[in-house]
Amino acid sequence: MWQWAWVLLGYLLGSVSSAVIVCKLWGLPDPRTTGSHNPGATNVLRVGNKQAAAVTLLGDVLKGLIPVLLARWAGADQSVVAATGLAAFLGHLYPLFFGFQGGKGVATALGVLTGLHWGVGLLLAATWLAVARISRISSLSALTAAALSPFYVYWLVGDVRTVAVVAVMAGLLFWRHRENIRRLLRGEEDKIRT
Ligand code: G3P
Repeated sequence: MWQWAWVLLGYLLGSVSSAVIVCKLWGLPDPRTTGSHNPGATNVLRVGNKQAAAVTLLGDVLKGLIPVLLARWAGADQSVVAATGLAAFLGHLYPLFFGFQGGKGVATALGVLTGLHWGVGLLLAATWLAVARISRISSLSALTAAALSPFYVYWLVGDVRTVAVVAVMAGLLFWRHRENIRRLLRGEEDKIRT
């Protein structure tokens, strides 16, 4: 029973918004009120700079990765490990500490899935980079990686409950990107500027 405490830890860690904290520390505008209004690394790059975006990305990846790894290392059941990852992801989307107004979950999902299996993390990062290289569109890269994530997990993790949890995460990620999807369909989505 105690092992469900990992799920709570996941949600609390996921609720820490790296983008908002980094922008505050860097003296940048609040990412929730500028650019795409998304507290994520892409928007921090858009309204700030590369360094702040890189720290945001790292923070959001780690808050997904750490609770999942801790749960695994503590010997929690696979269903608890998967639920811990989902909780961290939900914490990013609906953060307790930021009025339940969170981000789209891309970097946190990458951290969670890397914690489930490092090979899945590598495949997702490679997918994101390949699509970004061709399209230079962050959201399209994230949506492609998310769509493939249940298949990667099925291949390398194999546990069907974990695949189901990852499919739910991918569905939520698509839902949070609904405005991006509309812009993509209109050909109006912003390109990554480096
Ligand atoms: O990581 C979020 C990304 O997929 C889209 O971000 O700011 O372009 O809506 P944004």
